[in-house]
Parts: sequence; C-alpha cells; structure tokens
Amino acid sequence: MTPEAIKLIKASYAQLTLEPRQLAARFYEELFAVAPNLRRLFPDDLTILQGHFEAALALIVRNLDEMHAIREPLRDLGAQHVHWGARPEDYITAREALVRAIASRSASWDASIEQHWRQAVTAIIIPMLEGAAVQTAMTAVRLSTEIEPL
Ligand code: HEM
Repeated sequence: MTPEAIKLIKASYAQLTLEPRQLAARFYEELFAVAPNLRRLFPDDLTILQGHFEAALALIVRNLDEMHAIREPLRDLGAQHVHWGARPEDYITAREALVRAIASRSASWDASIEQHWRQAVTAIIIPMLEGAAVQTAMTAVRLSTEIEPL
C-alpha cells in the first residue's frame, strides 16, 4: 500500500464513530449472514471476541505503515486460526464482511476508499495465511517423524 493510501485508511478509521464492539458486532453479523456455516466455529457469546477483534484491528491500523513490526504477530494469529477451523477461502469471505461492516459505519464512503480498505485487509490476511501455511507444514513434518524409515 502507498503511504497516501495508508493515510486515507487511518483517517477513515478515526472517523468511525463507534461504541465499543459495534464494528465487530456488525462484522460478525455480516459474516454469518453470508456464511452461516462458520457460526459453529465461534463461541455462543461473542462479547469477549468482539473486544479482542476490535483491539487487534486498532493495533493493525495503527501499524499499517510498519507492517514489518506486526507481520510476526499476524502470522502467529493465522497459525492459531488453523486450530479454530479457518480455511483460506474463509479469509476472503471475512475480508468482504469486514469491508461491508466498515462501510456501514462510515459517514463518507466511495469506491476509492472501499478499494483502499480492501487492500488494507488483504495486507492483514496475507501474513495470517502465511502463518497458517507454516502451521500446516509443521504438522506434516511432525507426522513424518512417525513413519519408520523403509
Ligand atoms: C481479517 C481477518 C481476521 C482477523 C484480523 C481475525 C482476528 C481474530 C482475533 C483478534 C481473534 C481473537 C484471538 C484471541 O482471543 O486470542 C480471533 C478469533 C477467532 N477467529 Fe478470527 N480473524 C480473522 C479471520 C477469521 C476467519 C476467516 C475465520 C474463519 C471462520 C476466523 C475465525 C475465528 C475463530 C473461530 C476465533 C476464535 C473464537 C474462540 O475464541 O473460540 N477468523 N480472530
């Protein structure tokens, strides 16, 4: 992302006038509306998760221009997501749900800011998917030690 795009995202994020957990609540609503099959992966009560999700998003947006600083934590988060049952294709569904949630809470919105947000969320999910891939590869390596040499 260009420095200009990151500036726009930060300004757009700062303008989201929100009560705590409102954005996350909308995100999960949007997600489960298009992918009801994902609901069972999550706890019944989403309150704590909404708080964690918003805290993570705030941290990520603040550090968009220092991606190198958050790449490792995002990879770890992606690795954890393997255990929670997130599949690669779910990230695209989640990305679109998040973009719609942000749009619904934004006073000003157009195709250009939507595209910037989509890119920002893509920049988040890439390291998460990298972390998921490493996690999966480590499982394969661990399993390979269980096989007797032929
Ligand atoms: C933009 C991408 C995503 C971000 C930034 C994100 C962020 C987070 C965060 C911060 C947590 C809480 C971690 C904690 O409490 O320690 C979490 C939990 C979780 N996420 Fe995601 N997530 C994303 C995508 C997804 C996707 C695609 C799925 C797949 C369905 C998913 C499923 C879950 C589940 C099941 C939990 C754990 C619920 C529990 O506490 O049992 N997430 N996520």
